[in-house]
Amino acid sequence: MIGIIGHLHPLLVHLPIGILVLAFLFYWLMRLKQYAFLSKVMTLTLLAGTISAFLSCITGYVLSLDGDYASGLVGWHQNVALLTTMLSLGWFYVMATEQQTWVRHAAAIVCMLGIMITGHLGGSLTHGEGYLLGGSIGDDDSVIARKQVPDVQAAVAYKDLVQPLLQEKCYSCHAANKQKGKLRLDLPEYILKGGKNGEAIKPGNVSESEMIKRLLLPKSDDDHMPPEQKPQLTEKEIALLHWWVASGASFDKKVNELSQTDSIKKMLLTFQGSSSTATPDIPSVAVIPAPPAAIQALKQRGVVVIPVAANSNYLSVNFVSVDSVTDKDISLLEPIKEQLAWLKLSGQPISDSALKTIASCKNLVKLHLDHTNITDVGVKYLSSLNELKVFNCVGTVVTFNGLSELKGLKKLQQLYAFQTKLSGQEWKSLQQLFPSTRIDSGNYVVPTFESDTTLVTVPKR
Ligand code: HEC
Repeated sequence: MIGIIGHLHPLLVHLPIGILVLAFLFYWLMRLKQYAFLSKVMTLTLLAGTISAFLSCITGYVLSLDGDYASGLVGWHQNVALLTTMLSLGWFYVMATEQQTWVRHAAAIVCMLGIMITGHLGGSLTHGEGYLLGGSIGDDDSVIARKQVPDVQAAVAYKDLVQPLLQEKCYSCHAANKQKGKLRLDLPEYILKGGKNGEAIKPGNVSESEMIKRLLLPKSDDDHMPPEQKPQLTEKEIALLHWWVASGASFDKKVNELSQTDSIKKMLLTFQGSSSTATPDIPSVAVIPAPPAAIQALKQRGVVVIPVAANSNYLSVNFVSVDSVTDKDISLLEPIKEQLAWLKLSGQPISDSALKTIASCKNLVKLHLDHTNITDVGVKYLSSLNELKVFNCVGTVVTFNGLSELKGLKKLQQLYAFQTKLSGQEWKSLQQLFPSTRIDSGNYVVPTFESDTTLVTVPKR
């Protein structure tokens, strides 16, 4: 019941604003001869406005008992609201007792100013401070652009990784404007101070850290954070916070000053760069560098191995200038299977068994197997290459059945299949299987395979 009264506040507050503004309008209009009749309505309107202001004060007070709002701002809003209610009561008294003109004028103007200030403070509470001037910090809907982290090991763990995450997923309920569970997460001292159940984290002790415990609870649990209907943390994000608390919850140390296991290192890499804005032909998630010895071995065989971009660990591997590549040579790719993004084997006598190795290169984006000895049997292995965007099997004996095995590859943008065993109607069926893929069935032009190193440019937001 108490809850309902509080929740009526956002609805009720608009009444005194509207009604008192109307009273104000009537007040000036009724001074004109043709609107003199408004004087009776005016006092009544003013009375209604005063009563609704009074009700708003009560519901607002009940709402503030929740303790979810920034206490400083709430206090101001309450005081000014109460004052405004008194002012409108005063104005009503001045009108009813027919005081001197200047007193009535002053009462009207002062009351209007009170309404404006109260409304502004109230708006700041719900929409965030500075909302009027265009800011929206703390607003549920505001999307906060995450900062770029060019080198995760050199980043400051809290400022560059943890804080942006809390800002994105927790500040809407745990910062300056709202403090659910009496908890703020927007400054180190508040995080350490904790909420109504005590400290939010115990540095170095994950199992005693309320924050981590809540993140790990099943989503359906009432205590799970963030609440079920709100944007959730990804597994990697939970792992990040877990690691940060476990490693001592430092607010100033760099990532490379904190202890990390190999799997933590991998997890951290996913926060490097900007995942959503990477160049299209490079996998979105960053990788660790390939073992230099493996690259050396490939180079000795005459294979061209270069980074796909100046600041990327992903590799472009080109066998085209190598004499008669065998399936055995393909095993040289094994140690760099994480980093292999572009692979060109055009014209080499490799066969289906080579594709087993290639299928384990999960980050392959471009794969050129034109004029090789591959068949449907090998193509089937490739159905697990989920990052694949470009596939070239021109001049092979691959059939419609073989290619249809790849229909699960959601990212496939270009399929070059000229001079294969596909015929007539099958091209149409193929296009139906790959509705958003550009299929090249003739007038074939060799796609350029950039052997120049391109720089990953980060688009401006
Ligand atoms: C939609 C609002 C909302 C969001 C977003 C949210 N929380 Fe909460 N949080 C709450 C509420 C409500 C409570 C109080 C629950 C209770 O009283 O048990 C709470 C309580 C907590 C508490 C316990 C405080 C205490 O001492 O009782 C912690 C810790 C916490 N949240 C962490 C987080 C973290 C970390 C995030 C972001 C990943 C987050 N919350 C996001 C609403 C939210």
